[in-house]
Amino acid sequence: MEAKGKVTLNYGPDKNLDLPTYGGSIGPDVFDIRALYGKTGMFTYDPGFMSTASCQSRITYIDGDKGVLLYRGYPIEQLAVHCDFLEVCYLLLNGELPKKAEKEKFDWTVTRHTMVHEQLARLFQGFRRDSHPMAVMVGVVGALSAFYHDSLDINNPEHREISAFRLIAKLPTIVAMAYKYNMGQPFIYPKNDLGYTANFMRMMFAVPAEDYVVNDVLVRALDRIFILHADHEQNASTSTVRLAGSSGANPFACIAAGIACLWGPAHGGANEAALQMLMDIERDGGVAKVGEFIKKAKDKNSGVKLMGFGHRVYKNYDPRAKLMQETTREVLDALGLHNDPLLKLAMALEKIALEDEYFVSRKLYPNVDFYSGIVQRALGIPTSMFTCIFSLARTAGWIAQWNEMISDPEQKIGRPRQLYVGPTQRDVVPIAKRI
Ligand code: CMC
Repeated sequence: MEAKGKVTLNYGPDKNLDLPTYGGSIGPDVFDIRALYGKTGMFTYDPGFMSTASCQSRITYIDGDKGVLLYRGYPIEQLAVHCDFLEVCYLLLNGELPKKAEKEKFDWTVTRHTMVHEQLARLFQGFRRDSHPMAVMVGVVGALSAFYHDSLDINNPEHREISAFRLIAKLPTIVAMAYKYNMGQPFIYPKNDLGYTANFMRMMFAVPAEDYVVNDVLVRALDRIFILHADHEQNASTSTVRLAGSSGANPFACIAAGIACLWGPAHGGANEAALQMLMDIERDGGVAKVGEFIKKAKDKNSGVKLMGFGHRVYKNYDPRAKLMQETTREVLDALGLHNDPLLKLAMALEKIALEDEYFVSRKLYPNVDFYSGIVQRALGIPTSMFTCIFSLARTAGWIAQWNEMISDPEQKIGRPRQLYVGPTQRDVVPIAKRI
């Protein structure tokens, strides 16, 4: 990378260090601190990576102040309208949108990998029926590395490609199996004359006694949810995948690590928490109680947050939240649920929060999770499955990011340092002499 300029760091009397700066194609410049410790004996301190670019990437760009999200340069609003999820997967993995023949081949290959090894199905029996489906996902996706030994050489581009296909193709099957196991219903095998998302919905909702009738509006809505969640640059779970992968771990293990990270309520678990919040307010009195709830969300001692609001990067309306609101309306209309009380409640909460000084001054806007719970609930997806759906979609981004990292000549094992504030060296007193 060619330096664009330099910044000079003054770290003591007559102690200056020039650090090169680099410019991206858009977005903030960076200055390169790799030489810092060697030259100054000091580290940088940045808990939560508030000001740290951990890698170069060509995949996703976010302008949090303007509310812009681009996959490979294309605005999310255009991708959501013109593309299906597998087209977006192709784009994330390959850098360009597919031509017709390329798309057909890609879809064909994904479709031919939708089944899982029959012995993997037996693995589910080891979990309690009431396990959280995300706990099952972490285990089963990690276990894929025990089934696909033939594609674990991360330095072989063909192995990386086949692993990418396997993960994208098998995630819907595994998510649906986690649901069926939880429900005590038999697993439904994929049916390869259906598209990716229709196939997933059938595996979720069909039973041997009754087939599932595909509703195109609902399939399109879920497909859009997948597109909106497909990637989001270096968020916590993607950074987890990259960090796990930086040691040379296999892709299945890395994606399982990403799923574990995504589970947390500050990340992928937020849609589950946001819907729960809406249902609690509705139970306690609905729209009439919005003011009271907002008061609690502003009180730091209450332990209550307005879930589905706020974002580390977006300091403006999350563009995905707008699209999600649109999809929510489409689905509720298609199902004849025009007066859904939770949608009314969400809109009342949003209106008050967007006018409230607390939220305005902190630039807290609805994020993708604010509406996604309502739409998924309307699709018949239970709350405990929301984060699984997110992990299914984000797998595309995780693999694209993992692949980019493995192919990057500057890639090194991720190894942050620390500011040590523990005890200095001391001697062990034998247990008999400790007082
Ligand atoms: N409700 C009430 N106050 C909030 C909220 C909220 N949802 N979010 C942030 N704040 C306050 C926070 O208390 C702090 O106030 P102060 O400056 O007075 O101490 C200020 O706003 C800044 O917040 P922060 O926690 O320092 O911001 P962050 O960048 O560390 O956290 C966040 C971002 C997403 C974790 C946080 O906004 C949050 O917990 N939101 C609710 C959970 C949520 O919806 N998460 C989904 C994120 S989008 C999907 C994804 O990426 O997975």
